[in-house]
Amino acid sequence: MALQLGDVAPDFTAESTEGELNFYDFLGDSWGVLFSHPADFTPVCTTELGRVAALKGEFDKRNTKVVGLSVDAIGNHEKWSQDIEDVTGSKLNFPLVADTDRKVADLYGMIHPNASDTMTVRSVFVVGPDHKVKLTLTYPAATGRDFNEILRTIDSLQLTAKHKVATPADWRQGEDVIITTAVSDEQAAELFPGYETVKPYLRKTPQPTS
Ligand code: BEZ
Repeated sequence: MALQLGDVAPDFTAESTEGELNFYDFLGDSWGVLFSHPADFTPVCTTELGRVAALKGEFDKRNTKVVGLSVDAIGNHEKWSQDIEDVTGSKLNFPLVADTDRKVADLYGMIHPNASDTMTVRSVFVVGPDHKVKLTLTYPAATGRDFNEILRTIDSLQLTAKHKVATPADWRQGEDVIITTAVSDEQAAELFPGYETVKPYLRKTPQPTS
């Protein structure tokens, strides 16, 4: 069965552009993003990998480590990394797993046979410091991902892990949040003084800052 939210993200050891990589050791106490792309030397993937490299500082700020993956061989990853830099101006600055035996792709269900028997789809797994899957996304080969959206979801995941709040549609850092329905009005008054009741089930409060 496909990995679901709350499942433990399987550990693995695999060859990568930064040498042998053990996923859990690499993550340490950090959050993680494991994402697959269909194939090296392809146009959308080239733009995606450059974009993630450009955003590395944003992932770092969020204490989040990034790992890319495809079933291509390490030699191809290494040759392709020069193209990524030529095209996007960003040098690969995170490990790219060479999953030639599809061990990781199978563990994470990254090959969707109705899309392709041989290539990984554009999967994203956001993993918490407890190694549990917090978020999954699946995009087809022809649609490049919006990595700012992935940063936005990490902001929401980290905030909602810490406070009894949820984030509304299109929420961005600094905007009002929603008090979860598990919190009584009495508790809400203590935790979020001055909160606003829009509907009895929809109570808003400024984003907690601590
Ligand atoms: C791409 O990255 O452009 C791509 C990769 C695999 C299949 C189709 C497109």
